[in-house]
Amino acid sequence: MSSVAQRLKGKTILVTGASSGIGRSTALEFAKTQPEDLKLILTARRIDTLKEVAAQIAKEAPGVKVLPVKLDVSKPEEISGFVGQLPEEFKQVDVLVNNAGLVKGVAQAPDINPADVDVMFATNVTGLINMTQAILPIFKSRADGGKGDIINIGSIAGREPYQGGSIYCATKAAVRSFTDALRRELVATRIRIIEIDPGQVETEFSVVRFGGDKAKADKVYEGVEPLTPEDIAEVVVFAAGRRENVVLADSLIFPNHQAAATVLHRRSA
Ligand SMILES: NC(=O)c1ccc[n+]([C@@H]2O[C@H](COP(=O)([O-])OP(=O)(O)OC[C@H]3O[C@@H](n4cnc5c(N)ncnc54)[C@H](OP(=O)(O)O)[C@@H]3O)[C@@H](O)[C@H]2O)c1
Repeated sequence: MSSVAQRLKGKTILVTGASSGIGRSTALEFAKTQPEDLKLILTARRIDTLKEVAAQIAKEAPGVKVLPVKLDVSKPEEISGFVGQLPEEFKQVDVLVNNAGLVKGVAQAPDINPADVDVMFATNVTGLINMTQAILPIFKSRADGGKGDIINIGSIAGREPYQGGSIYCATKAAVRSFTDALRRELVATRIRIIEIDPGQVETEFSVVRFGGDKAKADKVYEGVEPLTPEDIAEVVVFAAGRRENVVLADSLIFPNHQAAATVLHRRSA
């Protein structure tokens, strides 16, 4: 068994936004890395899709117990009931991957739809904070001031704002500030606060941004070679699989053709 598999053995891992893209790949990667003894709590709004991910894991890694749970992180009332409703054997969460997130549109002020502003903040910021606050008491109840991993999926957009992304960038900058403050607040514990900031990854992200317009979404990836969600999932599992005293506090991951949020080398057709 690899040292990462050994360190993950017996752990309970909770992934938000596990129905698609990075979250789905993260669930599969954890299962692939520790197929014998692991529990996965997979959450998102699309429960049918979560069940498909669970079925795939059951086929590929029968030693992994999977619990799909319908959870909309933008609804505080759903999060407040969440931990209490977990079955006993899934209650001792060891790793929280705060991945659920979205971008809506490319509008610029003053033309940004207020509903889009609300959904981006409610999901990317308030949702992530509420999930963290729901799970932290579990971590803090453990010896040594507490133990567990919070892995927040930020973005290059949180480090570098760009035109047409003002709200999304602001949400990811908020994630970055919250994450950095949390790491400082929990410095006396064994709780690891980890941020992983992807550059361009091809997922359903752009389809959601353009309201389901696949042709527009495809244009984003024309002439470039984006990261795959598996590329980010590998980093998430790597971070969770470090020796307890090692914190992969912060990382920025680009595909080869990307050097900044809007600096991408495009091959002409
Ligand atoms: N793709 C990129 O280029 C990129 C770059 C940097 C960072 N990121 C970040 O990576 C994370 C994952 O995005 P992705 O690229 O994998 O996109 P994706 O394929 O669209 O996946 C987004 C996931 O978030 C879930 N989600 C959205 N709103 C939710 C809500 N209110 N409650 C619960 N789950 C919700 C979706 O599930 P349901 O629809 O089933 O709820 C889905 O599983 C996001 O935080 C995103 O900001 C992406």
